[in-house]
Amino acid sequence: MLLDIWFDLFNLYMKNILVIGGGAMGSAFTIPCIDNKNKVTITEPYSKLFIKNLSSKTKNHSSLKIKMPKQLIFKNYSNELFREKYDLIVIALSLSGIDFIGKELKKFKIKSPILILTKGLKYEKNSKKILTLSQQLLKKNNKLNISVLKGPCLAKELAKKNQTSVIVANKNIKTAKYIGKMISTKYYLIEYSKDVVGVEINSAIKNIYSMIIGSGQSLNRSSSLFQKSILEMKYITKFFKGKEETVLSLAGVGDLYVSAAGGRNSKMGNYLGRGYSFKKAKQKFMPNDTVEGEQLIREIAPFILQKLNKSKIPLMIKLIKTILNNQKFNF
Ligand SMILES: NC(=O)c1ccc[n+]([C@@H]2O[C@H](COP(=O)([O-])OP(=O)(O)OC[C@H]3O[C@@H](n4cnc5c(N)ncnc54)[C@H](O)[C@@H]3O)[C@@H](O)[C@H]2O)c1
Repeated sequence: MLLDIWFDLFNLYMKNILVIGGGAMGSAFTIPCIDNKNKVTITEPYSKLFIKNLSSKTKNHSSLKIKMPKQLIFKNYSNELFREKYDLIVIALSLSGIDFIGKELKKFKIKSPILILTKGLKYEKNSKKILTLSQQLLKKNNKLNISVLKGPCLAKELAKKNQTSVIVANKNIKTAKYIGKMISTKYYLIEYSKDVVGVEINSAIKNIYSMIIGSGQSLNRSSSLFQKSILEMKYITKFFKGKEETVLSLAGVGDLYVSAAGGRNSKMGNYLGRGYSFKKAKQKFMPNDTVEGEQLIREIAPFILQKLNKSKIPLMIKLIKTILNNQKFNF
């Protein structure tokens, strides 16, 4: 009897979280959620490797190079999964998985709050518009209750419980705070914003600007590229009706710092700055790496070249030409 009461009380506080995407970020994200005493289930719809990692007895994660917590529940991706009621569904797939999950969420008439970790933007050919990822999911199902989580977070560092600060955005700040309370720990600190568009735009374009900053071959030059990047990010954020001040948030300069200091985008930028064309640098030095900034450039270039004032974004325009026309990046 006493045990039943205790169990009911415990369930009142313990939330039921589903994480879709067992890659580096989805898996790392489960760690603060578990430390915060939630019931956490992870599923992987795409990669055989991550399925193998997470369903194994030892739960060794091949990207994070750690053993995942024992409490983490792995379930195969199936229709069955969506029969359960969740307090939060987290999307941690890469950009190419967003179309797929949008269709799935519509099919299963999901009512639980959704939290998107994925960073990126989509160009919609029919309407000739750029959509943020939350806009894309809402287009498929406008009843979804979507928040976004962005900011400077290297998955490996979060998995080691290094202090990490991120930002959760929802037009309704109460929803953002409800989610923040569910996932925050002493080492995973959450800030809040109502500027969903601004947060999503910044978290995507920082991949492009970290490549530009990475191209400077000295700290002096990179610093000047950094300052010019911020001005361009302000213009782009305003163009898409985000708030200029969001550029100075964790989703903007915060994330730009970590991406420019290290990572695949700035590494590619370094090769471009040394005079390699994109194609040559990719073949020679990074054949198996995904360079998110390059993918984003290809996605949004048609819109940027047509609709934005080119004189306001000379660095972005130069990088677009460098990548699309395989030119040298001599700015
Ligand atoms: N919000 C944050 O704090 C934060 C931090 C780091 C990374 N990220 C973002 O999270 C996303 C995932 O990053 P990651 O480091 O985990 O990448 P990863 O490569 O380790 O994992 C990618 C995930 O997407 C899935 N996937 C890939 N292609 C797919 C497809 N076509 N269909 C369905 N699923 C597919 C993979 O199976 C895997 O689950 C990226 O957009 C990244 O920018 C967010």
